[in-house]
Amino acid sequence: MDPAPGVLEERQVRAMFDRIAGVYDRMNRVMTVGLDREWRRRAADLARVGPGDRALDVATGTGDLALELARRVGPEGEVVGSDFSEEMLERARAKDAGERVRFEWGNALALPYDANRFDAATVGFGARNFSDLPRGVAEMARVVRPGGRVVILEITTPQRPPLSWFYAAWFDRLVPALGRVAGDPDAYAYLPSSVRRFPGPRELAATMAGCGLTDVRWIVTAGGIIALHSGTVAG
Ligand SMILES: C[S@@+](CC[C@H](N)C(=O)[O-])C[C@H]1O[C@@H](n2cnc3c(N)ncnc32)[C@H](O)[C@@H]1O
Repeated sequence: MDPAPGVLEERQVRAMFDRIAGVYDRMNRVMTVGLDREWRRRAADLARVGPGDRALDVATGTGDLALELARRVGPEGEVVGSDFSEEMLERARAKDAGERVRFEWGNALALPYDANRFDAATVGFGARNFSDLPRGVAEMARVVRPGGRVVILEITTPQRPPLSWFYAAWFDRLVPALGRVAGDPDAYAYLPSSVRRFPGPRELAATMAGCGLTDVRWIVTAGGIIALHSGTVAG
């Protein structure tokens, strides 16, 4: 039997992103009217990396957040973008003409990096796909040195009208309709349901604290549909 909507097995998530890799960036721009770039910039700011630092972008997909981090660490720094969809990684590599980022295959739930390897780890719109969220967050915390930062950028569900009405219309009707146009109705029906089952901001902050992160804070922006969480790895 298929799992409930919004809950896919790991292999199904990977197959879905392999399938939509070619339309992913265009769909993002349309669905967010181009605001997704600004949200990733804010996530990169919260990572607080600068020249010479080492950063990891988990579930990097087509690499936009990793490239944002690369701008901050400069040529003397190091950015790794990790994902388990080879098709998404291929798009990321094609975009990175200056080879500023190393795009590598990796499962977020078992990151192939030593402890304390990075100054910061980020994930943009990826955490909601993790089949085990606490494990994914714990992995990010593990590979970041004490005092370094973990940042999670994710879609969240606005609770109060009128935004909650607008959001329901946008996500439950427009996004699946766009998915049909893009040729993958299943993937873009999965998107709203995966957002609905994802923990709210307070609960996600508690998960982060449970993974040993301190000073956990969050910002809800874009009329309540985007949450940016950050925390510091305990020393
Ligand atoms: C919605 S895309 C986000 C891509 C990118 N971070 C962005 O900001 O647009 C989600 C990505 O998470 C990846 N992903 C989901 N679960 C993963 C896991 N357990 N390990 C590695 N990558 C994963 C998918 O392959 C996909 O590329």
